[in-house]
Amino acid sequence: MPTTLPLPYDYARRVVPESADMPPAPASLRVRRAASSDLDDLVALELRSFSSDRLSRAQYRRHLDSDSALVLVASANHHLFLGSAVLFFRKRSAVARLYSLATRPEARGQGVGAALLEAAAVAARRRGSRALRLEVRTDNAAAIGLYERHGFRRIGRYARYYGDGTDAWRYEKTLG
Ligand SMILES: CC(C)(COP(=O)(O)OP(=O)(O)OC[C@H]1O[C@@H](n2cnc3c(N)ncnc32)[C@H](O)[C@@H]1OP(=O)(O)O)[C@@H](O)C(=O)NCCC(=O)NCCS
Repeated sequence: MPTTLPLPYDYARRVVPESADMPPAPASLRVRRAASSDLDDLVALELRSFSSDRLSRAQYRRHLDSDSALVLVASANHHLFLGSAVLFFRKRSAVARLYSLATRPEARGQGVGAALLEAAAVAARRRGSRALRLEVRTDNAAAIGLYERHGFRRIGRYARYYGDGTDAWRYEKTLG
């Protein structure tokens, strides 16, 4: 049974636009823990969202079953897959890591990323994490803006962090 996370915002009022390859606008947006039935959607979104350092199907399958990972899915009307987030936890560490965040291209700019980000923070806090960290490509303006508007502050830089040689900014959010 998937877990529905309590979310701090009223996402039900967000509406995703209709487009040729999307069903009619869903009325509600919710974030839940991913299940193995989400594997196809998770892998398809990974392929469309990232050009390097992708998670494979086997990695997603492992993360779905792992205590040290949490995969979240944003969906509308209880079935329409809109986006995902991947969190990692380490024993004896109060810092959780947001490894991945992605929204289906057709649904971007409608608050799906924000909903996943808030749900990730809620989930990490519930597991006792005091901070959430992430890395983001220095050329990813949309993601950087989203993170900064959601309370993440820049804490460092990793040179040539990604497979294609791009640097990463490191960000951290303190979980109150
Ligand atoms: C980053 C990403 C997850 C955001 O998802 P989303 O569902 O569009 O997020 P939201 O709708 O909640 O917010 C997007 C915000 O970025 C803004 N934005 C969109 N494109 C932008 C751009 N090129 N430059 C700056 N801001 C941009 C939107 O206006 C919106 O701002 P708002 O919060 O003031 O309304 C999505 O763009 C994505 O999946 N990108 C590909 C994967 C990726 O890069 N993931 C992050 C690194 S792990």
